[in-house]
Amino acid sequence: MAKKIGILTSGGDCPGLNAAIRGVAKTAMIEYGMEVYGFSSGFKGLIDNDYTQLTDQSVSGILTLGGTILGTSREKPFQKGDESHDKPDDIIKTYKDLGLDCLVCLGGNGTIKTAAKLSEIGLNIIGLPKTIDNDVWGTDETFGFDSAVSICTDAIDRLHTTGNSHKRIMVIEVMGHAAGWIALHAGIAGGGDVILVPEIEYDINVVTQNLKERHDKGKPYSIVVVAEGIFKGEKKSAAGYITKKILKMTGLETRETVLGYIQRGGTPTAKDRILATEYGAFAAELIHKGIYNQMVAIKNNDVIAIPLKESAGKTKLVSADTNLVRTAKKLGVCFGTPDFYKK
Ligand code: F6P
Repeated sequence: MAKKIGILTSGGDCPGLNAAIRGVAKTAMIEYGMEVYGFSSGFKGLIDNDYTQLTDQSVSGILTLGGTILGTSREKPFQKGDESHDKPDDIIKTYKDLGLDCLVCLGGNGTIKTAAKLSEIGLNIIGLPKTIDNDVWGTDETFGFDSAVSICTDAIDRLHTTGNSHKRIMVIEVMGHAAGWIALHAGIAGGGDVILVPEIEYDINVVTQNLKERHDKGKPYSIVVVAEGIFKGEKKSAAGYITKKILKMTGLETRETVLGYIQRGGTPTAKDRILATEYGAFAAELIHKGIYNQMVAIKNNDVIAIPLKESAGKTKLVSADTNLVRTAKKLGVCFGTPDFYKK
């Protein structure tokens, strides 16, 4: 009998979600003859029994589309709160009533954690790692990341020209939650002079000394790329704080830019389209083979599956010892670390 599968997108959206939905649905329908149901607004749709059947038609023309045709939410069904009904029970009921063989959950760390819990209570689950933050443990890359890096790089490129015209220090804050992947990659791609990430402890004195020295050497402007998470959970604006400090400690004209949700919107890059398509198609293949409770991942360019519970609850962070950080340091990029002046 043809298998029936559900699919949902949960957590913050990102470019490539529709490409992944299309990848799962088309492969499942065309290659394996499955029935595919899309739940609206993440786990909320599963709790509220809110779904539609996806067809070849409904997943046509969505490859390049930003956002998610299914909608998303940050619903966490295992979180204590509304005790009027048991959300995991509602989810099991929807899953069973619809006669699903598997549920595909597209999401970041929070989603993977929920997906692992659903597998523990007896549902067949496949997780696909998506997020601009690239912080899902167990995969080299999440889809959405490349698009965000490309948007941030474009923004930094633009800051170079206005910074140069006005001879200013331009501070740009990028997303990434507790991880510095976007800041590191966009900072390097955009030729940032200073890059501050949550994983590498910085000394503001090193940063400002470097900026002053650049100015004194005749460099007309500088670019400072800051990850939003440098204050580790404190509700302080990273760009605002760093900008004020630089201004006060150097006296140099400094301006801040917070890129915000632009990083998550719009059409995915070609790389993200390919990654999302590969993840989606591989998910359908796993389901066809009856392999469940896995997260699809990419390792050394191979699309593989790892147990959901291996990734759940962990965060993939930047290491100060990665090649990229070491390479950037050799080029004179300042991470605010004391070794900047110990050469
Ligand atoms: O999607 C990940 C992310 O963009 C983080 O970098 C950011 O902190 C967070 O989502 C903010 O999103 P929201 O306001 O939707 O919770």
